[in-house]
Amino acid sequence: MIKKAVIPAAGLGTRFLPATKAQPKEMLPIIDTPTIQYVVQEAVDSGIEDILIISGKGKRTIEDHFDRNFELESRLAKKEDERFYNEVMRIADMANIHYIRQKEVNGLGDAIYHARQHVGNEPFAVLLGDTIVNSIIPVTQQLIDSYEQYRCSIIAVEEVPHDKVSRYGIAGGQSVSEKIMEVQNLVEKPSPNEAPSNLAIAGRYILTPEIFRAIENTPKGKGNEVQLTDALHLLMKRERLVSNTIEGKRYDIGNKLDFLKTTVEFALRRKEFATDFREYLKEVLKESK
Ligand code: G1P
Repeated sequence: MIKKAVIPAAGLGTRFLPATKAQPKEMLPIIDTPTIQYVVQEAVDSGIEDILIISGKGKRTIEDHFDRNFELESRLAKKEDERFYNEVMRIADMANIHYIRQKEVNGLGDAIYHARQHVGNEPFAVLLGDTIVNSIIPVTQQLIDSYEQYRCSIIAVEEVPHDKVSRYGIAGGQSVSEKIMEVQNLVEKPSPNEAPSNLAIAGRYILTPEIFRAIENTPKGKGNEVQLTDALHLLMKRERLVSNTIEGKRYDIGNKLDFLKTTVEFALRRKEFATDFREYLKEVLKESK
């Protein structure tokens, strides 16, 4: 059973400057909810009980967000504002969340390596904070279900247009079924002509503890950082690695345009202002012609 998840949140968020100069990108909200809360919710909805957030400099507000806030709670209780009171209490009680700091930004592989003691000798899930997926079955649950069948490391993938492959880790290999592929090649952010396919790593993983030994043997790669994709490439030589094409719509909130699109789509799904917002968008579009 997979009960532990690791959420790396130590990056500098340079793609979102200046908003991320003094606040973590993981706290940027989609409407009223910080992106990391959606990610924690996905883990919880997938049966994860223990979450380790790899944090770093300037990331304290993440800890505050998932902690109790007695002053706020008592004010909301006095105002008899039940909805917000319940929500604030729920957030502090979502999961058993632990933190460890990555002292120096040194890549996703290095961030995951910080989890080795906490994780111990069991398989675990990894959820990247810049991806939110809207799906009937939470993506992490989809991977856990595949893990039950394949008992090896699994990467979530989705098809992306060929001209976007250089934004992602790209996996190539042999199809096993409609959604499962035996991974035989992995390249981090390849140019379109180097890409083994157009299947992009979608920010969710199930990893066996063997990944830590692979990371130890992974030299710095793209961006002079220790890449998880390169470590997975090493792991693949020792253990089976499969990819699982996800079912659901993935929102890549790591860049500004996609963040905007996510906000609009999520707003259109929120009952309390969907109708007004749709009307507003129509008006704006008319005016901007
Ligand atoms: C990371 C991974 C990459 C993956 C992507 C998904 O890249 O290194 O393999 O495809 O997340 O969002 P980053 O977006 O952190 O540069």
